[in-house]
Amino acid sequence: MTIMTSVASDISLGDKGLTLPLGRGPAYFNYHWLRDNCPTSFDRKTRERSFDIFHLEAAPKAKAAHMDADALVIDWAGEDHVTRMPMGWLEAYAYGERRADPADLPRKAWYGDHYPDVARFSHAELTTDKARVKAWLEAMIVEGVAVVTDMPDTDAGLTELAHLMGQVRPTFFGAYFDVRTHINPTNTAYTAAALELHTDTPAEEHAPGIQFLHMRANSVEGGRNLFGDGVAVANALRRQDPDGFRLLAETDIPFFCEHDSYDMRSYQRIIELDRHGEVSGLTISQHMLDLIDLPQTLLDAWYPAFCRFGKMLQDDRYVMRFTLKAGECIVFDNHRIVHGRAAYSATSGERYVRGCYTDRAEMRSTYRALVGEGRFK
Ligand SMILES: [Fe+2]
Repeated sequence: MTIMTSVASDISLGDKGLTLPLGRGPAYFNYHWLRDNCPTSFDRKTRERSFDIFHLEAAPKAKAAHMDADALVIDWAGEDHVTRMPMGWLEAYAYGERRADPADLPRKAWYGDHYPDVARFSHAELTTDKARVKAWLEAMIVEGVAVVTDMPDTDAGLTELAHLMGQVRPTFFGAYFDVRTHINPTNTAYTAAALELHTDTPAEEHAPGIQFLHMRANSVEGGRNLFGDGVAVANALRRQDPDGFRLLAETDIPFFCEHDSYDMRSYQRIIELDRHGEVSGLTISQHMLDLIDLPQTLLDAWYPAFCRFGKMLQDDRYVMRFTLKAGECIVFDNHRIVHGRAAYSATSGERYVRGCYTDRAEMRSTYRALVGEGRFK
């Protein structure tokens, strides 16, 4: 190893990388990483990497390096190129930790008494005030639910709202859906029957992330809306029945959605965990749970856990019950929040809900852009 000492700091150059002192002590950086991420590697207009590391004939290696103000300056061997690597980038990437993400906000579990505290925004303020959009997305990330009031009684009003967060994300039954009683229903939602607590389209390999339900008309008797926080319930199960929790979090089970022209199938876990092992969401739907094709003996343990969890989901402690009024749109995380509906009398009035979905990752992208983070700003 060649040791090169500069006036301002001690940098040691190795064969595959260099070591320099940083705030938390000596830090090692690989030469490929340093060369590939040279600030000149990125096009200022597209903000994409325009440098092609594959074209280098030999592995990158520093000929010399020194500290200069707030940058590490590297003169590369075998190449007429100098890199000025900002100290901020070096500090951020020195220890193999994931890049800080402003959208990685801690989830706040809520319970059946949450309705008065549900974040509320008017359609008009969201379409005119970016700060309110930021607050809306923050509520969606942290609590997974918000209500938008004073919606225009138009199809365009819902599209306009969804576009504040991202693109409308179609499912296999289209970009939008209209929930009212149908003469030949293909889905329990299209009847006046009760809808048990569920997440939508579990039979899709990647079920849509954020759901919008715009109440366009609601003058029927019954049909109260039910919402519960899957994070709160799953965490309670984890405390009360750790083995049951583990089974629901580790076992892939089949979901289906089948009719004349489609036969959608997927395998999902009832409880989803994030990379920290924390509950991040649910996939659950009794009306779309397929015949489980697991060894029957495994079901001796799985089914009791599933039933216990299903009963907990319906407990008053966890379920908000309210009537979404005409002109309101509830927006919620379809991977976290379970929703359902009490039965209603189809002849007592009109009930019409128009809905669509957007993507969770796109919502976080919009949030990051709004809070002003980003490497190129
Ligand atoms: Fe649904």
